[in-house]
Amino acid sequence: MLDLIVQNARLGDRQDVCDIGVKDGKIAIIEKNLSGKATRTIDAQNRFVTPPFVDSHFHLDSTLSYGQPRINQSGTLLEGIALWGELNPTQTVENFHARAMEFCQWSIARGVLGLRSHVDVTDERLLAVEALLDVREKMKPYMDIQLVAFPQNGYLRSPGAKQNLARALDMGVDVIGGIPHFERTMKDGAHSVRQLCEIAAEKGLLVDMHCDESDDPLSRHIETLSAQTTRLGLEGRVTGSHLTSMHSMDNYYVSKLMALMGEADMQVVANPLINITLQARHDTYPKRRGMTRIKELMEAGINVAFGHDCVMDPWYSLGSHDMLEVAHMGLHVGQMTSVEQIQNCFDAVTINAAKVMQLENYGIAPGNNADFVILDCNSAFDAIRLRPARLYVVRRGKVIASTAQANPTVFIDGGETTIEFTIGATK
Ligand code: FE2
Repeated sequence: MLDLIVQNARLGDRQDVCDIGVKDGKIAIIEKNLSGKATRTIDAQNRFVTPPFVDSHFHLDSTLSYGQPRINQSGTLLEGIALWGELNPTQTVENFHARAMEFCQWSIARGVLGLRSHVDVTDERLLAVEALLDVREKMKPYMDIQLVAFPQNGYLRSPGAKQNLARALDMGVDVIGGIPHFERTMKDGAHSVRQLCEIAAEKGLLVDMHCDESDDPLSRHIETLSAQTTRLGLEGRVTGSHLTSMHSMDNYYVSKLMALMGEADMQVVANPLINITLQARHDTYPKRRGMTRIKELMEAGINVAFGHDCVMDPWYSLGSHDMLEVAHMGLHVGQMTSVEQIQNCFDAVTINAAKVMQLENYGIAPGNNADFVILDCNSAFDAIRLRPARLYVVRRGKVIASTAQANPTVFIDGGETTIEFTIGATK
């Protein structure tokens, strides 16, 4: 007796329609016309069933704070950091906790069941750390949350950041963060990368740094991050987030850099919604796009994921944590329009992001966790095109969210027609 059978599920690029059988929170069997009984059966009606969305770059401490205490007028990264500096000291554990918990419900509704969140460790009270550790625990049955100790104002530049970061790790924060381009000098940036990677090597932790989030083509901390990764044997465990300066770098230099990144098995997270709005604010025309070289990095065999980064906070006023919006924007900014590239953009918010987080037992295959999302469409291509309803969000074999199928009514010349399928769906 199975716990759940999902009938007629269309799985990824396998055009076959299969049934998925679930037992004890794991995928027990996938086959056509699965016989046997289950406590619950869902008919997916040939719709696309995907592994859950994963956001490998987010900030739970600042989310849903839009307008507090004011709005970012210039739209720049630096005004966002200044604004966060005004807001952060006014927050309490309860504020941080309530906003993050509300946000996680948005995430679940959108089928996002993996989330890596940076948490600012600049304020020595570490209230956000305290709050988010509890959120991580409370949300465990529903989503996997990883926390990154992020010295927003600089690991070397901000007084007390070294001690605070060490304390945050002792409290249970999972990953080591950094922000080398915000240190006082390029040299200090390089020192911060070296020191933080050494802590990771000593403690056996992952690293994820905000790195070169700048339009300055000479911001080359990713070079140092790659070199330190290789020197310390951290290959595959280090992530360079943003890397927007790569957009503006000289092509010859990038050809050398990408080889170093490959050698380090560097994980890359771009944040298309944020990059396209925060970067190039000092340009007149032509304006740069400010997103890193997604297409070229992927072609070089480097694992690239897309993150949402922010929702309704000092850096980004919009969003509802729909990772399909992120993939959609990444596709446009990166001009990734071939069928294969569109699939790559979908992977950037699912399997590639799961790889960044090193999530275990992820993916729709026997033996893996029974975590998946039934989308109201037929393919990854249409998922990005339509950003359809997440009909069912399943975690460990249990439905934890559902959204009704879109069923619009159209009025033409006074007539009324009920459309019984999603707008624009392909057959
Ligand atoms: Fe970020």
